[in-house]
Amino acid sequence: MKIAVIKETRNAENRVALTPQVAMQLIKVGHEVMVEPKSGYASNFSDEAYEKAGCTLVSKETALGQCDILAKVNAPTSDEINGLKSGAALISYMYASFNEALVAELNQKNISAFSMDAIPRISRAQNMDALSSQANLAGYKAVIMGAAHMGKIFPLLMTAAGTVTPARVLIYGAGVAGLQAIATAKRLGAVVEVSDVRPETKEQVESLGGKFIEVKSEETAKVEGGYAKEVSADYLAKQKEAVNKSLFQADLVITTALVMGRKAPVLITEDQVKQMKLGSVIVDMAVEQGGNCELSELDQTVIKHGVHIMGQSNLPSTLPQNASELYAKNIQNLLNHLATKDAFKWEMEEEITKGTLVCHAGNILKK
Ligand code: NAI
Repeated sequence: MKIAVIKETRNAENRVALTPQVAMQLIKVGHEVMVEPKSGYASNFSDEAYEKAGCTLVSKETALGQCDILAKVNAPTSDEINGLKSGAALISYMYASFNEALVAELNQKNISAFSMDAIPRISRAQNMDALSSQANLAGYKAVIMGAAHMGKIFPLLMTAAGTVTPARVLIYGAGVAGLQAIATAKRLGAVVEVSDVRPETKEQVESLGGKFIEVKSEETAKVEGGYAKEVSADYLAKQKEAVNKSLFQADLVITTALVMGRKAPVLITEDQVKQMKLGSVIVDMAVEQGGNCELSELDQTVIKHGVHIMGQSNLPSTLPQNASELYAKNIQNLLNHLATKDAFKWEMEEEITKGTLVCHAGNILKK
């Protein structure tokens, strides 16, 4: 099949959907790959590298108009959708439940759209799971960003001029991003404490050298398909009580707490920020979902009550080379699963197809 890669147009997006390496492997199994010039430039993949891998460089219009499959990171714009031929397939992030108009537009154009944010959380789909591959990198970057913003170092340092105590890092949410943040902060020498509503994360936190903060409550978060469901206000109050001591001592706080399909829970209020240490840093990784700190501002670093609050969105895009490498692999694995070199299999009842296919043959399958 003819696969197209075009340059991402979302503001501050540096990633590309397919790397030359992955394109070469797709070409090897019989696909053709067309690439708009400069598509990979921001993630350090040159046009020459794509050509060397066997791709053809074509204009965006040609890529869109001729492809059987459009591979993207972010959902296409209306113009891009209009440039596709009827019946083409699309693989990209889509967040269908929040983007009804986009899904309607794709469906009207008779596009078969597979959503990379809807890969089911089952073992055999792990190598297709873009949310995990990108969250992993984002967790690392959050620690590095926080560290660069702090007025102190992470490790214990004994010098002739005195002893420097290690930094204290508090992490909310021990999912994919949180676990990577724990590992990164530990490697840098910090003392790391962690809060999560899923009790099974305690063991994972401890295996990375973090201290799990227990909440005294009978309630635990229900988990559906690997995602935490919302906990009660009573639980959140108890969690606050348990975590406050660590919060008020922390030098760096990283928040990653998300609840599937809902606004992120507010875990740090303005009143709590007021009691944090002067110069401490919060990196709010949930900022795009409303934020875990009520003072976070999207794409801004603000100083409130002496605390630096970083709300940068799309952290994977700040590591575009690795993020594109992993995302491209995720797409390749999904494509290998869904299609042969000649056609899609359309196994409509199969779990991964069913989970990711948003619209097909003029029907909207997911809202
Ligand atoms: P996520 O991004 O949906 O949420 C991040 C974390 O926030 C979760 O650990 C969640 O429990 C936590 N959280 C929610 N509300 C909170 C609160 N009030 N306070 C503190 N923490 C709160 O989750 P993510 O990182 O995408 O994955 C969660 C887990 O799912 C992973 O650790 C893994 O065990 C599992 N998973 C399994 C996969 C597979 O089998 N293919 C793929 C991806 C994840």
